[in-house]
Amino acid sequence: MSEHTVSPRSPADLRGVAVVGSGRALPRTRVSNDDLSALVDTSDDWIRSRTGIGARRLAGPGESVTTMATEAARAALNHAGWDADQLDLIILATSSPDDLFGTAPRVQAALGAHQAVAFDLTAACSGFLFALVTAAQYIRAGSMCRALVIGADQLSRWVDWTDRRTCVLFGDGAGAVVLEACAPDRDDLLAFRLRSDGSRQACLTLAHRERLRDVQGGFTTEEGGFHPIAMNGQEVYKFAVREVPIVLAQVLRDADLEARQVDWLLLHQANQRILDAVAERFSVAPERVLSNLESYGNTSAATIPLMLDEAVRDGRVQPGHLLATSGFGAGLSWGAAVLRWSGPPPSGSATAEPPST
Ligand code: UT7
Repeated sequence: MSEHTVSPRSPADLRGVAVVGSGRALPRTRVSNDDLSALVDTSDDWIRSRTGIGARRLAGPGESVTTMATEAARAALNHAGWDADQLDLIILATSSPDDLFGTAPRVQAALGAHQAVAFDLTAACSGFLFALVTAAQYIRAGSMCRALVIGADQLSRWVDWTDRRTCVLFGDGAGAVVLEACAPDRDDLLAFRLRSDGSRQACLTLAHRERLRDVQGGFTTEEGGFHPIAMNGQEVYKFAVREVPIVLAQVLRDADLEARQVDWLLLHQANQRILDAVAERFSVAPERVLSNLESYGNTSAATIPLMLDEAVRDGRVQPGHLLATSGFGAGLSWGAAVLRWSGPPPSGSATAEPPST
């Protein structure tokens, strides 16, 4: 157990939120830009220069949101030294669930987290940040003590593999963190802001496919099904480079910090050019900007915890480090937070990343 250990219900002096462990999981199959060039009219040079992406992992047979989320969760629980049955809450941020009724309960069952309530939260690529803040509110309210927050997506299910504008961008994966009640003066969530603008929803969609079905007996209903992902890339790009610096500046101000006091910039991994533009706006040196786009592309709700875990395990992010983080994407939705990493120092060996095939 970590030093933040508390009783099942938290008293008023334990209403802070400590981030005490992380984990990640990736599918086995690695697909390079050159592999995609055989599918659609694209090239390694175009994809790298426009996005920074070199490859992505795609879920294959036997792999799913449930399996990836469960692996990432197990790694995070091990990292924190917790048993699954100590969890009160599991929130799974995903836009590509295995079951529209909820995938989090499958993860709960797979983990054996018998005491935890488990539910999905959908906010596309902002989902992990929204879920993290949601879990933190339960802990701050005193109704939950130990929470698992997972970001997991399998957007390869919903990509049009004939559309070069989108199919080169996305990958599959999962990342997770565990949160624990702690003394308020040690709270690791220093500030957050969340935003939505549904009037710009059409910029990025995975929309219900309207198809009517005549039911015997005389009435007509819609049939279930979705269109593949459709994106106005330029509009989403402009939205990201305009809104992310604004919301980041707000959370830094809320936390009474300057960008130079933050150890790491941890943005949703959508495009290296977005990362570079935001870093430049805050005069953050490139070596303080976390990026794994080259290896995994855009894994939607998974990017932030996946990147965090990688940087924690390889020793870049150390206990006590401050991270300015921002998620953004479909909805449109976006947000930012200032976080402190309080988890164990790097152990290196407990990741759930399989070798690629
Ligand atoms: O995670 C959710 C948030 N998502 C994002 O933040 C994504 C934001 N948007 C972007 O990252 C970029 O807009 C993209 C990477 C999606 C596209 O880059 P771009 O520089 O905005 O390219 P574009 O859409 O302006 O397209 C430029 C050209 C077009 O050709 P024409 O019309 O100029 O002849 C496209 O058809 O590039 C073409 N193109 C491609 N060419 C080769 C588009 N996709 C490809 C491709 N390979 N894969």
